[in-house]
Amino acid sequence: MIDSKHIREQFPILNKRINNNSLVYFDNGATTQKPKVVIDSVVKYYSEQNANIHRGVHTLSREATELFESARQTVSSFINSKTEEIIFTSGTTDSINIVANGLDIPKGSEIIVSQMEHHSNILPWQLWCERNNGKLKVIPINRDGTLQIKKLESLITHNTAVVALTHVSNTLGVINPVNEIIQKVKAIDQRILVLIDGAQSVPHMSIDVKNMDCDFFVFSGHKMYAPTGCGVLYVKKGLMDQLKLSKTGGGTIKTVSFERTEYVNGPLRFEAGTPNIEAVVGLAKACEFMNSIGVNNISEHEHSLLVYAQNELRAIEGVEIYADHSNKAAVISFNVKGQHPFDVGTLLDKYGVAIRTDHHCTQPLMNYYGIQGTIRASFAIYNVKEEIDIFIEALKKGIKLLS
Ligand code: ALA
Repeated sequence: MIDSKHIREQFPILNKRINNNSLVYFDNGATTQKPKVVIDSVVKYYSEQNANIHRGVHTLSREATELFESARQTVSSFINSKTEEIIFTSGTTDSINIVANGLDIPKGSEIIVSQMEHHSNILPWQLWCERNNGKLKVIPINRDGTLQIKKLESLITHNTAVVALTHVSNTLGVINPVNEIIQKVKAIDQRILVLIDGAQSVPHMSIDVKNMDCDFFVFSGHKMYAPTGCGVLYVKKGLMDQLKLSKTGGGTIKTVSFERTEYVNGPLRFEAGTPNIEAVVGLAKACEFMNSIGVNNISEHEHSLLVYAQNELRAIEGVEIYADHSNKAAVISFNVKGQHPFDVGTLLDKYGVAIRTDHHCTQPLMNYYGIQGTIRASFAIYNVKEEIDIFIEALKKGIKLLS
């Protein structure tokens, strides 16, 4: 059992009032709120530790460098990788772009994504295909949001170079069986590279990239209680040096002349320019925060919220839940018959309830369901059942007002 009162006390923003109501923050899929340990780490960084990293011999610079590199260790053990397999990026989108722009794969290759991908895991691959005469193929889904895994096998040809798949759907919350899928893909052709988008899984479940055996794993800090503007690109050992550079600059080199530049090997090769140091420091604190609660305890608590909220929603006439089952992370997408999601979202906001209402950057998924958008409630460790009761009451009142 987690101590919700103690956890909530660590998030100052939860005291905020919205439209004269207590804030009920259910937009965690978009970004999570930050605990005091993370906020304090950023304040401490600027008050006591700020200097540029990897560049100075002076004490402050060496200390900042140590802080940054120890964050790399913390983050890397959080997903059971090795320190030298972790590249810090600006977020999931940046990480996927680095891979899509850096892969040394033949022109005309085929890239496989799924119907439920976030635009960030479609567009970089679509652009690659447009520029390289490639082909983007799509794993279809079932009405309940699950992947048609058998179809994936039939999509693979000798031209398949990459399978890029989300671990958890940001819109539906559906958890894809990535371990099983990676095994299947590699059994068909060991050379196919697999990228897993973990933006919506890392905040909710324990991740072990070694056990998963993916080639690339990407995620963002801000969806897991860390500051915005930092993220991670895990690259399996041995693959990093094969990635072409799409971005170069200070910090990536051994020697530079106008004739020739020699780059360093390893993560720093991909971290051109001054990184978002304080966000990376905050990300390490966020990992420690999640570890202090226990990632499995987080999953369990959020799952109980999911089950409770879905039961309550099902009892409301006119509510349709997409992927209406509970093999999901704590995300619920639904619509109310005859109502536009924006109108419902606006009314919920009047009662202090923050949810997301649009296509959630998954227009192909919306096209599959034949809808413009959904209302999405996504939970985090600080949410409690009482907030779901407030949300359900507000929703009922809102529906009454709109009809
Ligand atoms: N990708 C984020 C979401 O799902 C922004 O809301």
